[in-house]
Amino acid sequence: MTDSSTADIVFRVIHNRRSVRKYLDKEVSNEILFKILEAGFRAPFAAQLCSAIYTRSREKMKEAGISVYSTAPVHLIFFIDFCRLEKIMTHRSHEYGYDDMMAIWLGMQDVSLMIENLTIAAESLGLGSVLYGLAPLKADSIAKTFKVPKRVFPVVGMSIGYPDPSENTEIRPRFPLEMAAFEDEYRNHTDEDVKACMKVMDEGYIAQGYYIKDRTKVELVDKEDTIGFDKYSWSEHISRKFRSAFRSGDPLLDILRRHGFDLK
Ligand SMILES: Cc1cc2nc3c(=O)[nH]c(=O)nc-3n(C[C@H](O)[C@H](O)[C@H](O)COP(=O)(O)O)c2cc1C
Repeated sequence: MTDSSTADIVFRVIHNRRSVRKYLDKEVSNEILFKILEAGFRAPFAAQLCSAIYTRSREKMKEAGISVYSTAPVHLIFFIDFCRLEKIMTHRSHEYGYDDMMAIWLGMQDVSLMIENLTIAAESLGLGSVLYGLAPLKADSIAKTFKVPKRVFPVVGMSIGYPDPSENTEIRPRFPLEMAAFEDEYRNHTDEDVKACMKVMDEGYIAQGYYIKDRTKVELVDKEDTIGFDKYSWSEHISRKFRSAFRSGDPLLDILRRHGFDLK
């Protein structure tokens, strides 16, 4: 049961959350960290297929292949974890025989819910966070650095800490709700709908100087780049990312197989 003031606080925390990339030189105590982690693990779960490793060592994260924001004091990596489940099953004299694709799906669901709970819990205590999405591609170095066994696989990394107020952390735009939540049936977006989605995202990100600030662009390797930072927007960034960025290199499927997942 909640009263309206509790709801106000929860909604305020959710709506004020933004990724934080600059932190104060202020320690996050174990007491606070464990409180946040416990809140994370209170999320609904399919089979508790999630684990977290935390460290205060930027060097260890670097060794693991994740370059974290330099002022962040605490770093985490979240994993889908079948190692523990299979040990439980062995204790119950059952042999694992689940489809690993479905298993990974369930694990992703568990981990995602846990991370969001944890993020909001951290916010409510005055901390901020940022995620590192490349962690799955760094599974080999993460496993080596943090002694992670097979069938435990990184989903995402995170830093948390007390936000430095000098950082310009504005609330980033989102698609208009009617473009993403549909009653009864899926909205097959028209060109006008798509333009409406792009408009709100592009105008918002450009107005906030999001990409121009750090001159962040996904480079084009096979095409002349005719778009200056005045026009480099969210929809351009995301299109470039999904166009080519992860085509080459070590495919995730092979990495998952190397880490003990039976995927055809
Ligand atoms: C799965 C995932 C991976 C992300 N990876 C990174 C990352 O590697 N580096 C980074 O600076 N931000 C990363 N982010 C943060 C997003 O850039 C950020 O959430 C998005 O721009 C929206 O901004 P907001 O969180 O401030 O609302 C990631 C977010 C998610 C959900």
